[in-house]
Amino acid sequence: MPLPKAELHLHIEGTLEPELAFELASRNAVVLPCSTTEELRRAYLFDDLQSFLDLYYALMAVLVTEDDFDRLADAYLARAAAQGVRHAEIFFDPQAHTARGVPLGTVVEGLARALDRSEERHGISTQLIMCFLRDESAESAMRTLEAARPYLHRITAVGLDSAEVGHPPSKFREVYDAARALGLRAVAHAGEEGPPAYIWEALDILRVERVDHGLRSLEDPELVKRLVRDQVPLTLCPLSNVRLRAVDVLEDHPLRAMMDAGLLVTVNSDDPAYFGGYVGDTFHAVREALGLGQEQLRELARNSFRASFLDHDEKRRQAYLAEVDAYVF
Ligand code: ADE
Ligand code: ZN
Repeated sequence: MPLPKAELHLHIEGTLEPELAFELASRNAVVLPCSTTEELRRAYLFDDLQSFLDLYYALMAVLVTEDDFDRLADAYLARAAAQGVRHAEIFFDPQAHTARGVPLGTVVEGLARALDRSEERHGISTQLIMCFLRDESAESAMRTLEAARPYLHRITAVGLDSAEVGHPPSKFREVYDAARALGLRAVAHAGEEGPPAYIWEALDILRVERVDHGLRSLEDPELVKRLVRDQVPLTLCPLSNVRLRAVDVLEDHPLRAMMDAGLLVTVNSDDPAYFGGYVGDTFHAVREALGLGQEQLRELARNSFRASFLDHDEKRRQAYLAEVDAYVF
């Protein structure tokens, strides 16, 4: 039995495995840039975030119907369950679908179908986080928030993703204020490729409760002090950082140094179909590469539940934490 854990940084579109992509492409008459799954997997050699995003957005074209989104999410949940995930807070990118003519309702209702069965079928509790594409305009993000009004009961928080550099969090101040006024919580990608200043902006301007990645935090000692003081969770994605060349090799990843500095970090998979592993694989990889001991792995699992948006159900959080404490390696 794998270590129980929560997954807090997972783009559902990044779980599209080549086999499902080809099946949906043929069903929806979409032409893919490659003709075999092997050829597609060989294309997964990225130079940076943008080179990945180009393929990620291109492959999404196969997601058209509610059933496609249901299939995608259900396939992820099955894989996640096998790797010990007990709770998942799942990102989706509405603008990447509405821009292709797929209505927001199709996306949310399709994902919700899978999420509604998740506890019974996979033993995983779930939440949805709606991300704005930061390389699109703030007006487009605001229109997306407006369009999401009928589905807000399905959505826990807003997030910010896509190409980071040149698109600081401050660009989305008004959208985040509006989201908060609608009762949504807030997270944002910051410090993946962008500088520590973007992490400050995410904290002080967007008032996020968690920072997604925050990889570059250690470059700024004052920022570290702030993140440690407030115990702001950072949802790290070590395999993603290697594949997108933010770090050269896993052995150089700052995860361990960040734990030692007192930061509240979690380990996540980001876009597992593209980066070589789901979250259990990621735990194994960092254990090997960084020489983490059992108690450090347990601490990472505890952090994942501590950092989760389970505040409305503290009993459940405590039950998950008890599972972690009772886990025998
Ligand atoms: N969208 C999907 N994965 C992403 C990542 N790692 N960074 C920013 N945007 C993303
Ligand atoms: Zn991400």
